[in-house]
Amino acid sequence: MCGIVGFTGRREASPVLLEGLRRLEYRGYDSAGLVTSTGNELHLRKKAGRLAELRGHVAAHPAPGCSGISHTRWATHGGATDRNAHPHTNTAGDIAVVHNGVIENFAALKHQLQAAGTAFRSDTDTEVLAHLIGHYYHGDLVAAVRQALSLVKGTYGLAVMARAEPGVIVGARLGSPLVVGVGADGMYLASDANALAGFADKVVYLTDRQICALTETDWEVRDQDLSPVSVAVSDIGHFLSDGDAGRGAYPHYMLKEIYEQPETLANAMRGRLTEADSTAHFGGLNLSAQQLRQIDRVVMTACGTSYHAAMVGEYLFEELARLPVEVEYASELRYRNPPMDRNTVVLALTQSGETADTLAALRESKRMGHTTLAICNAVGSSIAREADGGVYLHAGAEIGVASTKAFTSQVAVLTMLALYLGRTRHLSSTQGQRIIDDLHALPEAVRQALRCHDHVKRVAAKYAHAKNVLYLGRQYLYPVALEGALKLKEISYIHAEGYPAAEMKHGPIALVDPNTPSVFLVPRGSVFDKVMSNMQEIKARGGPVIAIASAGDREVAAVADDVIAIPDVPEYLQPIVTAIPLQLLAYEVALLCGCDVDKPRNLAKSVTVE
Ligand code: G6P
Repeated sequence: MCGIVGFTGRREASPVLLEGLRRLEYRGYDSAGLVTSTGNELHLRKKAGRLAELRGHVAAHPAPGCSGISHTRWATHGGATDRNAHPHTNTAGDIAVVHNGVIENFAALKHQLQAAGTAFRSDTDTEVLAHLIGHYYHGDLVAAVRQALSLVKGTYGLAVMARAEPGVIVGARLGSPLVVGVGADGMYLASDANALAGFADKVVYLTDRQICALTETDWEVRDQDLSPVSVAVSDIGHFLSDGDAGRGAYPHYMLKEIYEQPETLANAMRGRLTEADSTAHFGGLNLSAQQLRQIDRVVMTACGTSYHAAMVGEYLFEELARLPVEVEYASELRYRNPPMDRNTVVLALTQSGETADTLAALRESKRMGHTTLAICNAVGSSIAREADGGVYLHAGAEIGVASTKAFTSQVAVLTMLALYLGRTRHLSSTQGQRIIDDLHALPEAVRQALRCHDHVKRVAAKYAHAKNVLYLGRQYLYPVALEGALKLKEISYIHAEGYPAAEMKHGPIALVDPNTPSVFLVPRGSVFDKVMSNMQEIKARGGPVIAIASAGDREVAAVADDVIAIPDVPEYLQPIVTAIPLQLLAYEVALLCGCDVDKPRNLAKSVTVE
């Protein structure tokens, strides 16, 4: 994880670096630091804690100079302390390094360096890089970085400066993203292009094992043998401006993103549903009609909330497209060798497009010769670029660490994909048109679902003291139960478990007591009666029940302690509508628990280490 920003040019570097880090804080917020260069001096500033700590420190102790590198950290090796904050330097203090990734053989390298007399000042894996680069440095930073990296196993996005080469920044990438930005006032380096919006005009995405060198006026990219390579230069125009990323009048990004969902869902569908042929169309799938028809199995892979969206996708593809689907955690798929034939398509789901395990699973699938597709939010991200084809969510930047709008957009895109694949198989045009009509009505249904917010606040106040919460649903709503539980635990730190409602009899029901509420997803649908029975089983054991149910459902109201009403939608769209009250419930409980909703402890928005 971690975010990197570098700048060298004709303006003060530290404001650029601090602003870039602000936009990259989603990658980690355990500590932040920067180093700038003036003539023959490096100015190092770093602080544990949020970026605000570094800001204050830099305000009190300015870091002058028109070139510098900076870092926001998600701790992997060593606690979140000042001394473990990046940049790290060699013993002489003339090489400074910021690093995103994990040096897997750092212990062996550290041992060798210590045996040769090097004293370490941090517990990080990164510090070995500073010492190694320092060791190999004889006036050529690019050559020293290359030599040091030849000893390293693991992943890295790196930015390095040498005291003796003011104005020069060297970057390198293996497994962690790095983007070069070309601006009118200088050259930039960052972990993602959004950090450079408004600064750089053009961007160059480094690929693995490339090394770049930036000066105030120029940049170049070389391969691992230091031979120059030609690279594609793209326009940064379509990336976020800072204004897009603001939270407006909302107290938290998460709340803003929850409320954006009617709009983001409409954006996901815009221009993709055509009445003329009653199907969906996607510009970037890159599949021929023949390839489409040949698909006989889909393996969906993802992490976190995206994994839950994929689980909904399994139900959608089976029902609407009659295609067998398997859903696998990317961290598992990447090390498995499941038998898959040529007609198996691997579909990666990822908001950020940078999740290390999802990227690795995608690459492994490509290597094995499978067609890979991606459903991504972040335009130009590693996974979006490396998949054979894909669909963007167009949900806009998601800043809150707890994913909300990306989840519902992913499910909407999966529904459209299922429609598209279904129409090449068994779905009639009448059935296709009905799905299109249902999808068109969805943003309004979500708008109505958001009206439960005031009621959710009251329910949250009643249950915020709970130590354990169960989330229960069946069929399409089982993955939503998992997602509801994930939302609660990640932002309120209350233990929560999601289960298929009937499966709770095989263990979790032992947890049920008057202090353990169960959230039931029980809108009207094919398994309504079954879920009602499961609800009675919880009530019979004294467990309080919060039901997410169809508006006006008296049968549910007669059993549940609290009912949160949602509008009626067809069963296959219920995952989207039922997710809304669960997001709001987690948000309100987290507020009552005094938690930092947008930046929960120990988490990061984009997990770029495995
Ligand atoms: C992290 C985030 C989650 C996200 C998961 C997968 O854990 O905190 O919100 O669902 O990564 O991220 P991706 O960007 O691949 O969807």
